[in-house]
Amino acid sequence: MTMPANSRLIGKPVQRKEGREKVTGSARYVDDIRFPEMLHGATFRSTVPRGKILGIRFGEGIPWNEFTIITAKDIPDKNCVALIIDDQPCLADGIVNHPEEAVVLLAHPDKYLLEEARRAVRIDIEPLPSIFTIEDSLAKKEIIWGEDNIFKSFLVEKGDADAAMATAEIIVEGEYETGAQEQLYIEPQGMIARASAAEGVTVWGSLQCPYYIHKALKGIFCLPPDRVRVVQTETGGGFGGKEEYPSMLAAHAALLALKSGKTVKMIYDRAEDMAATTKRHPSRTRHRTGVTRDGKLIAMDIDFTIDGGAYETLSPVVLSRGTIHAAGPYNCPNVRVRSRAVATNTPPHGAFRGFGAPQSVFALERHIDRVAEAVGITPEELRRRNFIHQGETLAVSQVVREKVNMEKLMARAFELSDYHAKRERFRSENAGSGAIKRGIGFAAFLHGAGFTGSGEEYLASEAAMEATPEGRVRVLAGSTEMGQGTNTIFTQIAAEALEIPAEQIEIVQPDTAHVPNSGPTVASRTTMIVGKLVESAAKSIRRSLIESGVLKAGYRAEEFAPACNRYIEKFGPLKSFAKYEQPKDLHWDDEKYQGDAYGAYGWAVYVAEVSVDMRTAEVRVEDFVAVQEVGTIINPVLAAGQVEGGVAQGIGLALYENIVWQQGRMINGQMTNYIMPTSMDVPPIRVWFEEVPYERGPAGAKGIGELPLDGTAPAIANAIAHATGIDIRKIPVTPEVLAEMMETVHA
Ligand code: MTE
Ligand code: MOS
Repeated sequence: MTMPANSRLIGKPVQRKEGREKVTGSARYVDDIRFPEMLHGATFRSTVPRGKILGIRFGEGIPWNEFTIITAKDIPDKNCVALIIDDQPCLADGIVNHPEEAVVLLAHPDKYLLEEARRAVRIDIEPLPSIFTIEDSLAKKEIIWGEDNIFKSFLVEKGDADAAMATAEIIVEGEYETGAQEQLYIEPQGMIARASAAEGVTVWGSLQCPYYIHKALKGIFCLPPDRVRVVQTETGGGFGGKEEYPSMLAAHAALLALKSGKTVKMIYDRAEDMAATTKRHPSRTRHRTGVTRDGKLIAMDIDFTIDGGAYETLSPVVLSRGTIHAAGPYNCPNVRVRSRAVATNTPPHGAFRGFGAPQSVFALERHIDRVAEAVGITPEELRRRNFIHQGETLAVSQVVREKVNMEKLMARAFELSDYHAKRERFRSENAGSGAIKRGIGFAAFLHGAGFTGSGEEYLASEAAMEATPEGRVRVLAGSTEMGQGTNTIFTQIAAEALEIPAEQIEIVQPDTAHVPNSGPTVASRTTMIVGKLVESAAKSIRRSLIESGVLKAGYRAEEFAPACNRYIEKFGPLKSFAKYEQPKDLHWDDEKYQGDAYGAYGWAVYVAEVSVDMRTAEVRVEDFVAVQEVGTIINPVLAAGQVEGGVAQGIGLALYENIVWQQGRMINGQMTNYIMPTSMDVPPIRVWFEEVPYERGPAGAKGIGELPLDGTAPAIANAIAHATGIDIRKIPVTPEVLAEMMETVHA
């Protein structure tokens, strides 16, 4: 690794800021917080996937007069959870569109009686026809949303894919599918609310985006911004799953709080969390690729569809990212990507690390291996002949300005994994009669950091900083820590820029009453975008101190505190503020879906080695190498942790995590039957960072959070194909699925 020679804290494994509290158990998660006379809240949900509510009945034997009861008619203003468009009600009103839709809310001081009461609620529903698959939705078997079941569609065009396809010497087609996936953060969703007509609404909870909730609550309660307050409590993971659903839960808790006049706590248990909250969108991708006989890509025609569930929610942005990443890090002159998000009667699918990219990248990277096979060259040779370089254009016609070197990443990944030798050795060993076959495969991919297109300009994020007379520096931002390292990264960036020890930096708890809106903690944007604001805010504090004469450039760390003290005495508060400014050379055309989709990309090559037991159809990932270029590494331990965690989730996506649906409802919502990888299923993950400082990132850093999930599943699928000769088209490749495919191959 290369590091800026003079840096004190950048590139150093500074200890996780909140680490001690987390490991000693003193960190306070939402369920650890108690208020006097607090009520507990519970949710009664629909019993059918789609239907008309005819009536609600409250059964015998429950002292209903002790309960606070909320239905849609209690909602003071607009019954919707504001997000992109306002189609999702906060509580079902007259109609339900998925089997987990909330219909009645209950609150009571006694949790156990509350649960009995929830079971005593009955609704009379007249069922309506429902649909559960992408195919049925596209075929309009039933129109369940809008006029055509389509939430959103995109068309990306570069060159002329049809004309080029007509001249192609070889055309390779394929269809690929990915399943839904549950985020499985350690801490389930939870929220506490207090509300009154006089004071407005305050919520505390486990969440990623305080200002999303702020927006939703303002709408539901018809309140001015200063009467809604959202406070993030210690958050045990989000992975995209706490982007939108916390707005729903906050609204539910606040409705109960307003009506009861008491503080209300709502905590989902694992089963409710798995059943009712969002998951990764299932997807179907069709590829038609034209290549020359010597393996030059000349036309890519990609059709990408995701299942959005019953309401639009975040599907447009998940679809957008999946669409933009669908053609990968290749330089193909003619590309067309058509995509759409469709409605089905399942709970809305939502953000999950990667935002649609893991889905479309799985399809592409599996397909590219098949294209190589059709051409008769190795997967690496096909990629080498088509990799994008600086100055060339991606599918969205974005000219790549970064010094991307995919060949180098691939060479490094092959060296670390001993790819070539193993590829040969496994091939010959697999020809024998042994029951265990081995394979090695890889994927090459990119991931854009930050909001798409003009998204960052529109967000116009802000961060602030203030210094105390003791020389402590407080960072104020709405960006949340959810395990990925926000607190530590901000600390390192600020301390580095101020030339003071990390201990002097304090991260203010995200609370909309005290911190500016630095945008949502999503899209791997925190380090690169908000970190840059933190860096600018720190530099401006430093400048104030120096320009006012209380500190001299080249100061020693001990001189900082007395200087702050003197400054504050003489001039008053020492504060700074930074706001995002879109670089002038970034242009995005939202109509054509062309231009600079992202300010910067992470680039990567991942290699997976697997063994497949041909008797039981079980796959094990035996070794994994993850090579990436994500700019400068600010904290090597946290960065490696991001990659290891993302790869583990990718292993789950590829092999284990299978949601069993019945009438739109997840019926394996337990950790005993929804199988996720444990430490026993995760091989040693060897992480390598090729550091190329990104001039616009703080200390040269780009985003890393989501990238690791994109390439893991296709690398594994390609390795299984190498081991078994089976053409994997669908994940998760559970033993059941693989066994079935083995039979078809042998039949
Ligand atoms: N890592 C941990 N430990 N916990 C999380 O919840 N979320 C992921 C990723 N890594 C997550 C995580 C997701 S979905 C995103 S978008 C990024 O972190 C967000 O954080 P960043 O902006 O700091 O990268
Ligand atoms: Mo991440 S899916 O953008 O929260």
